[in-house]
Parts: sequence; C-alpha cells; structure tokens
Amino acid sequence: MRILIATPEAVPYVKTGGLGDVAGALVKEFRRRDLDASLILPLYRSIRDKFTPEPAGKSIRLWMGDTAIEGDIWISDRSPVPNAYFIECESLFGREELYGPSEGDYPDNALRFSFFSRAVLEVCLAMDIRPDVIHCNDWQTGMLPLYLGGLYRRSFESTATVYTIHNLGYQGIFAASDLKYTGIGKDYFTPEGIEFYGRMNFMKAGLIYADLLTTVSETYAREILESEFAFGLEGVMRKRKEDLYGILNGIDYGEWDPAGDAALPQKYGPDSLDGRKHCRKALIKEAGISNEKAPIFGVVSRFSEQKGIELMAESVEDLTSMGINVVFLGSGDAYYQNLLTDISARKPGRVFVRTGFEEKLARLIYAGSDFFLMPSRYEPCGLGQLIALKYGAVPVVRRTGGLADTVCDYDHLAARGTGFIFEDYTSSALKGAAKRAACVFVDKRRLARLMREGMSEDFSWEKPADAYLGLYEKAIKRVRDES
Ligand code: ADP
Ligand code: GLC
Repeated sequence: MRILIATPEAVPYVKTGGLGDVAGALVKEFRRRDLDASLILPLYRSIRDKFTPEPAGKSIRLWMGDTAIEGDIWISDRSPVPNAYFIECESLFGREELYGPSEGDYPDNALRFSFFSRAVLEVCLAMDIRPDVIHCNDWQTGMLPLYLGGLYRRSFESTATVYTIHNLGYQGIFAASDLKYTGIGKDYFTPEGIEFYGRMNFMKAGLIYADLLTTVSETYAREILESEFAFGLEGVMRKRKEDLYGILNGIDYGEWDPAGDAALPQKYGPDSLDGRKHCRKALIKEAGISNEKAPIFGVVSRFSEQKGIELMAESVEDLTSMGINVVFLGSGDAYYQNLLTDISARKPGRVFVRTGFEEKLARLIYAGSDFFLMPSRYEPCGLGQLIALKYGAVPVVRRTGGLADTVCDYDHLAARGTGFIFEDYTSSALKGAAKRAACVFVDKRRLARLMREGMSEDFSWEKPADAYLGLYEKAIKRVRDES
C-alpha cells in the first residue's frame, strides 16, 4: 500500500502543536513497518533553514484563478522512498510563520492552502506516483479531496482519501471572493458544497468530499455531532456519521521518554524517580520558585480559548493561596499572554510565565512539575497530558474529548487512577481537583505510586497505526468498488 500523508506540519520538520507530533510519528511508525509511506508539506522558510531537503529537479505550475503560481518539488531522506516531499514556493511559504503572526492570520491563507492542496496532486503527477491513499489533515488540506474527486479524478481513479479532523475549532473560513483563488467553479459554492453562511469553508470541503473521516479520540468523535462542539458543522458531521471514526492519538516514545531525554538535567524512569527530583530542582531554579516544598503545577499550551486559559487566569491566584505554584509556558493570543504575565508580576516566586515556543523548557516542565494542568474547554485528543503521564507529571484535566479517554480519575480510597478530573468549566471545579491533587502531594509514597501508575500507561503508536491501516484499506476498497 502506498500512503501519502498531506499535512501542514510534521516533526521533525515543523510543529506549532499536536498535529506536527502526530503526522511525524504516524509516518515514522509506518516506515518502521517497512510500508511505503511519505509526508508532503509546504517548504516553509524554517524547514529550508534547519534541514537539508534537496530539489527533485521538477516543477509544477498551477493557475489558481487568474494567477499562475509556480513551485518546485523538494525531497528529504530518499531511502527507501522519500520520507517527505516539500512544495517550494517562496512567495507563499517563504515566511516567518506558518499561518500568520500572533496578531492574526496571513490574508492570503485561502490561496496558500488551496494551492498546497492542489499542488500535492500535481507533485504526484510530476513524480509519477499514484498513492493508494492520501491522508489529509485539518483545514489546510481540506480542499484536496474536492480537487481529487473533481478536476483530478481521471488521473487518480483508484486513490482514496482519508481526512482527519484534529480540531473543528479551526475551519479555514474565507470570504466568498477568495473563491477565485481556488480555481474551482461557483457550482461548488452551495450549502451542499463548501459554502458556509455566505463564506467559503475548507474544513467543510474535506468533510464532504473525503472517502472516510477520522478524528483523534472516540469521545471527540461523539462530541462533534453536537452543536456545542461542532462550530456550525454539526449538520455535516451528522450526515457523515457512518463514515466518521475516532482513533486516539499516540505519542512517539522514541521522542518522549524521560529515560532517554537529552534535554533533561537528569534522566529517569518509573524505577528511578529520584532522578526526577533533579529535574524538579532545575525547574524551580529556572522559574524562580520561592517555596519549593509546595506542589508545582505545570502548563505547556497554546494560549487560546480552547485550552481554558481564561479559567486558569481566573483561578491561579486562588491556587497560590492554596499553596500551589504554577509554571506556564505558552504562545499564541497576545491578550492571554499579557493577562498571565500581569498575574505573574503580582505573584513573583509563585506564578511563572514564559511566552514563546520552547521545546527544551517544555520538556523540563513535563519532567519537573508535580502536576500538569490542562483544563480545556474542549480537547480533540491532547498530547500534553500523554507526555505528562510518561514524564510523571500527574495530569489535572477537565473531562472532555481525549482528556476523558486518556486520564483515569484518582480514587483516593482504592489509591488507583492516573490523574484528577473535573467536570464543569468553572473555577471552583478546577480548584476542587487541584485541592484533591494537593492532598495527595503531601503523602509522598502515595504521590510516587500515582506517578508510576501514569508512567506505565501505554499510548504508543502501534494500536492507532493499525487502526489507520484498517481504515485506509476500507477507503481504498470503497473507491475501487465504485470505479
Ligand atoms: P494542540 O495541538 O491543541 O496545541 P496538543 O496537546 O495536542 O495540543 O499538542 C501540543 C504539543 O505542542 C505538545 O507536544 C506540547 O508539548 C507542544 N507545545 C505546546 N505549546 C508549546 C510551547 N509553548 N513550547 C513548546 N512546546 C509546546
Ligand atoms: C489539535 C487538537 C489536539 C490534538 C492535536 C493532534 O491541535 O487541539 O487536541 O491532540 O490536534 O491531533
């Protein structure tokens, strides 16, 4: 089976969040099994600066409406098949950011990502490859199934598409006037097509035209059938309910394992928790925490409404009154950055805020915090809590989406569980869970047992990769039966 994963981000090349981890780890797992699987991404400036892909010597040229856009095909790690193809187009992708600066998105994202989606198919033609399945991810690749089923069907008669929703909160919605950049006719701009309240919606294109749909946890797969979670797409989701599958993300333990993490001052595992104390000390120093005997709650997150930043901002001063320290690392919304930074200025030594995207500090927070706070408003899967479990930072989470599917609430009497879960999106519910966590913190034996229980959970990629392969087969069969 020939698999092509079309994605706007993938580790090790580029990552702004969990999608990058997931796409990179999934292809790695397929290649470990000797499958013919490759990634295809835009060649952003950062990839060009940090990696060494090479030009393949082939170009593509596309008319996106009235504009002709040219791109070159680049390849990385050729053996035995390319690990990744890149679409080089300096005018669209040679920029500082992937989607735009913190003030807002790039104004030409409709053009950038409809070009990318279509260019994926052009790359296949130019390189003479016909994937059995193209696995698309999020709104940035939503137009691909539409192009494949329309303009390109004759060249890809037996290629199936699987479309994964990583986050229905980001749909790629653009002005109707941007339709001209996509190169598709007005006949697609209908309520049955990509029209969405008078505008154009790339996520909707993926949801309608892909052969099969997946999302990244079973609970989220159920939640997005409801208006509360579907951001206006609940009707489309319900229509395609039979074709929608929840496949829980894994994490790549080759990348995320405190026993082999070179970024940590000391490596450790479930049987060597003493090593973890060094990491805690290093975090205390880095964050300037003054009362080191008190519990440390770590946060590594995009600063966005989804992640419950507002709720944390509302609760954090009360948490410090309960004797809890909080260490934040995040990037995103400038409003939330300022809100949290102001709080940390009022609570020096207790609340620490670092804004930016810092892999090394993120790892130290997972390794040095006692608890990992993730009170998301909604969470399709969440990788933060999975990494935290592996690193022994006990998750304190809200029961939603993938958080509900991966964390098991602590039962104090039975001394079983892997974290602390609360239900309501309220400050008092968050503080209630934090209080339960703080009670365990004072009993060091209990805490160590709880940490070890989480560290021994298995969220590796094996099971999810099997599930994806099963779905690819199903999608391929469907396309071949229909053609
Ligand atoms: P999402 O994709 O919604 O942002 P996930 O929990 O699925 O959330 O994945 C987030 C990933 O990005 C994790 O690997 C996390 O460690 C990482 N991450 C998030 N924010 C930062 C940051 N500011 N610095 C470094 N890593 C970060
Ligand atoms: C999204 C979601 C997150 C998920 C990630 C990878 O960014 O917000 O919950 O883990 O994608 O699938």
